[in-house]
Amino acid sequence: MFDVDLIRRDFPILRKGVTYLDNAASSLTPEQVVLKEMEFYREYRANVERGVHRFSQRASEEYEAAHEHVADFIGAPSAENVAMMRNTTEGLNLVANSLDLRKGEKIVTTVIEHHSNFITWLRVARKHGCTVEVVRSDVEGKFDMGDFEKVVDDSTRLVAVTRVSNVLGCIVPVKEVAAIAHEHGALVVEDGAQGVPHLRTDVLDSGVDFLAFSGHKMLGPTGSGGLYISKEELYQTAPLCIGGGTIADVSIDDYELAAPPLRFEAGTPAIAQVIGLGEACRYLERVGMEAVEGWDAKLAKRLAEGLNEIEDVEVYGPIDPKARIGIVSFNVGDLNPHDVALSLDADYDIAVRSGHHCALPLMKELFSLPEGTVRASTYLYNTVDEVERLLGAVEDISRG
Ligand code: ALA
Repeated sequence: MFDVDLIRRDFPILRKGVTYLDNAASSLTPEQVVLKEMEFYREYRANVERGVHRFSQRASEEYEAAHEHVADFIGAPSAENVAMMRNTTEGLNLVANSLDLRKGEKIVTTVIEHHSNFITWLRVARKHGCTVEVVRSDVEGKFDMGDFEKVVDDSTRLVAVTRVSNVLGCIVPVKEVAAIAHEHGALVVEDGAQGVPHLRTDVLDSGVDFLAFSGHKMLGPTGSGGLYISKEELYQTAPLCIGGGTIADVSIDDYELAAPPLRFEAGTPAIAQVIGLGEACRYLERVGMEAVEGWDAKLAKRLAEGLNEIEDVEVYGPIDPKARIGIVSFNVGDLNPHDVALSLDADYDIAVRSGHHCALPLMKELFSLPEGTVRASTYLYNTVDEVERLLGAVEDISRG
């Protein structure tokens, strides 16, 4: 049984009197995760996979267990399919750098992507004389699958798509996109930065080849994240960096890489953060992702509908509450979104994000909004009262 009051007890930061609605930028962290990280520093602080002493053994065990927890959380077949990264961006860049693109080949992405899932492809395409084709959605972030069918062809090497827009909150049918891509032998990379924290993720069901996600948006520590790599691509994918920890053997003139996932995790990794991310996955599993989704849907519905009802407020993204998660972008009359966000913080103790949200193609192509939007985003510890508080504050601001 989902009990938001019980959950809120795990987040002492909530007692500071701030209504935190900037979860799409970064979530808060429960005590269980903070304590798990602290346990590493207090009890067995040492390097991993490099020592025979007891601290190193324990650190390695915890580090490996964290891989298992994360793999389970996203439905990956094994821990070897999950390489720990600093964030979603690093995972996407790893995939981009690993592609052996040939001149004339194509990468397909969409107009609603975060810059990390957009400029990464522009750069790698330019370098190899390839093109990037951008599939457009309507203003609610809804795609016509026929547009993917038209654009994806046998020259397409990769399709890069987000599960959830970080601006519109719309849910993208990644599984359908993946099926179209695979008909043409193209790889599929999913940007899971906003999807993985909020929606049950099952990489085998969606069929993606890669899934990049961030720990800090799903109750985990900053500097933690992961990249799922499918069984088929595991040994075809090149690490972004190699060095300490990534080898099975080295001779004077050659080297052999270690088995995955260690081959992707060069140098001393972010040990405490990885262990913390494992704990965050366990926390979310204990609550249950179905419960997280259900609560999210309730908050999202009230947030989007409530904002829509305020005169002079424009809401962006899906009207159908089932098509979105609790990420809602809006503007108040012709007020600058940063001014609205500053007033929400200073006058109402409400934290939201404002600006272009690292999605300038979306802002420019779908809306002509160079200043961007205000964005309120919820998570499992937010309450209906907090949403009402935001609605009241926005109504006040809109009345001037
Ligand atoms: N990608 C994060 C956001 O959308 C930082 O706010």
